[in-house]
Amino acid sequence: MTQHPRPGTDRAPQAAPGTTHRDVVSFVRRGERLTPSRQSSWDRLSGQYVLDPPRGERDTLPGDGARLDVEEVFGRRAELVVEVGSGLGENLVAAATAHPERDHLGVEVYLPGLAQTLSRVERADRPRNLRLLPLDAQRALPAMLPEASISQLWVYFADPWPKARHHKRRLINPPFLDAVLPLLADGAVLRLATDWAQYAHHMRRLLDARPELALLHPSGTRPEGESSDRVPEGLALTGWAPRFEGRVKTSFENKGRAAGRLIWDLAYTRVPRHPVPDGASSSGAPAHA
Ligand SMILES: C[S@@+](CC[C@H](N)C(=O)[O-])C[C@H]1O[C@@H](n2cnc3c(N)ncnc32)[C@H](O)[C@@H]1O
Repeated sequence: MTQHPRPGTDRAPQAAPGTTHRDVVSFVRRGERLTPSRQSSWDRLSGQYVLDPPRGERDTLPGDGARLDVEEVFGRRAELVVEVGSGLGENLVAAATAHPERDHLGVEVYLPGLAQTLSRVERADRPRNLRLLPLDAQRALPAMLPEASISQLWVYFADPWPKARHHKRRLINPPFLDAVLPLLADGAVLRLATDWAQYAHHMRRLLDARPELALLHPSGTRPEGESSDRVPEGLALTGWAPRFEGRVKTSFENKGRAAGRLIWDLAYTRVPRHPVPDGASSSGAPAHA
């Protein structure tokens, strides 16, 4: 049986001589071994579904000049939905199947999750409008996609990194927002969900302050009920999104619910950029409703 290419280390690269810079990443890669059934899904489908751009100094980083030409990859021009941290692929595969008119890109660094997604792809009769990018989204997306090219960006149940000393590892932090917000087309939708009230508070503080974004449900209320985790004082009373009907329940959501935590949904729209002067061309966003 073909073995999956051995994943590299996600440890931060050594600082270049004369610098003190070290990357902080939002993920740890453990337990990358595949079960025989996941290995076999990987062997059958990764060639078609998992993009394999040139890599940089780690195998989760794009190499210089790595670009993603979505029209070439999908063979058409359609709305692009990107899910960062697509995990085991529950949402990605369900959405690609329900919306054949859109193209769906899952960005995920966890190899068993990618392989499990492939086995779902197979059970869903191999939708043609789905691909996986096995790279660190924060570094790969801005390097590989043009500005204003994403119609929807989803981040569901990102690792909460609850300890204060780990907050810098949370995905939703200024470096990630600086990397991905320029990629949202005017009117694009950013959807997030978490089962950790403290992370919900952190996200609201950062996202509400971004001039590129506006709340989609400014008067939306908090989810009903008591949460078993600590709900921070000062957590917004309004601005919460209703559960997005296109979001299927994943094992991470179920775990949060089973532990008595509430589910916090957030939704924003990308406010339009300045109007393009007559005669100038716009930045190549796919058409989207
Ligand atoms: C807690 S899981 C949630 C998975 C899925 N969204 C769900 O709701 O079931 C978070 C996932 O995000 C992935 N992840 C974290 N940081 C990432 C990054 N910078 N780029 C790509 N994937 C990332 C992790 O590998 C992990 O699989």
